[in-house]
Amino acid sequence: MKGSPKRQVSSRDPSQDLLPGPAPSAAEEGPPVCLEPVRRLYGRTSVPGDKSISHRALILGALSAGVMKIRNLSPGEDVRSTWQCLEHLGVDIEGSVGEARLTGRARSSMKEPEDVLDVGNSGTTIRLLSGLLSAQPLFSTLTGDGSLRQRPMDRVVKPLRLMGAEIWGRDGGRYAPLAIRGGGLSPICYDSPVASAQVKTALLLAGLFLQGETCFSEPYLSRDHTERMLRYMGAEIGLERNRVILRGGRRIDARDIDVPGDPSSAAFLVVGALITPGSELEIRRVCVNPTRIGYLKVLDRMGASVEMNDLREVCGEPVADLRVRSSRLKGTTLLPEEVPGCIDEIPVLCVAAAFAEGRTRIAGAAELRVKESDRIAAMAWNLNEMGIDVVERPDGLEIEGRGKIKAFRGRSWQDHRIALSLIVAALAAEGPSRVFGAECMNISFPGFLDRMTPLVER
Ligand code: S3P
Repeated sequence: MKGSPKRQVSSRDPSQDLLPGPAPSAAEEGPPVCLEPVRRLYGRTSVPGDKSISHRALILGALSAGVMKIRNLSPGEDVRSTWQCLEHLGVDIEGSVGEARLTGRARSSMKEPEDVLDVGNSGTTIRLLSGLLSAQPLFSTLTGDGSLRQRPMDRVVKPLRLMGAEIWGRDGGRYAPLAIRGGGLSPICYDSPVASAQVKTALLLAGLFLQGETCFSEPYLSRDHTERMLRYMGAEIGLERNRVILRGGRRIDARDIDVPGDPSSAAFLVVGALITPGSELEIRRVCVNPTRIGYLKVLDRMGASVEMNDLREVCGEPVADLRVRSSRLKGTTLLPEEVPGCIDEIPVLCVAAAFAEGRTRIAGAAELRVKESDRIAAMAWNLNEMGIDVVERPDGLEIEGRGKIKAFRGRSWQDHRIALSLIVAALAAEGPSRVFGAECMNISFPGFLDRMTPLVER
């Protein structure tokens, strides 16, 4: 197989997604990271602050009444994009990701940004800020990098227009850049065709200061950090299964937030330890919100040994220490209803599937095609390079596990979760491997290789 999993922007026949496109240029990819297999992983570690919670802490902090401290923000580039966009909107944020001090603007309007707001690679930033800016009486424009500009924005544009926002974008508002003239909104009840925490949060942010109820329903429950944080900050919010109801028009209080470790980043260490025989890792202070740890359930079915110890609650989120021991894995079937709970971990679950005995089937995961890259095509291409038999389907993959993989040359397609999954696979490959385009791991997990070094035994 040759070529790239890049998407087409035009309206398209979904079967086209299976066709390979042009490969990224050498300039785009840079020099590869060369990785030798390790004997085992052993020791105690932690992961950076959760990316989803970090975005929300900054944005809800900006809308709160008062001053709050946020500790352990994600050091990744995506959260830096949110931080910088908020500063361009006049929000006062001091300090560093270790400890930031933020002064909320409560109900007073943000400053009209003088220039285009650049969200970089961050889909969460553009979708959440679209909601916030729709409620602000000002004009703003949002754009991002090449990958971001190919991702669907109509999922937020449509409901925000229903609330009364004026939004323009390429192809009728399907793609960024987006231009927003906000203000004058009315609350709505919206049934979303996709389970998406980004769409849900955009609507809740738009409805926060409106009189009346903003409701959002989705086919399956997506991550619920916004609901938890809004409640923690004093908002009136009700939950009924996959439906959330916000009673708007009230202020939210500034409250200090300690961001727990990112379970999606922990997933790379968890799978790394599972597939390298003799490994044992403790990963401390990981967020174990049930809407985020679907991958642990899937791995449990595959035979993984992962313990969750010292379960506690920190700022409205459940947190625990994970203990992982290498395990013999077997293939499994991932059902469509499980996909939202492990959407960001499916690339690394594909690596676990390659090291398992037997077939793993993933279905109902077409959303993976509109992430930072087309993750179905990207993983199919890379698994093939590892000597694994894989069938690519429009909404998933079938992977024939062999219990091992051969040394490979992998490509990230500039997608951080693909890069990190390939690095983890390389640690347990049969010989030295190369990963091209690995520096994009800085989007969510800067310093990943340094963090691994003390855990590696050769
Ligand atoms: C996120 C929600 C998910 C996830 C993304 C982060 C969030 O996207 O894939 O990495 O922080 O709200 P969707 O809401 O599009 O499923």
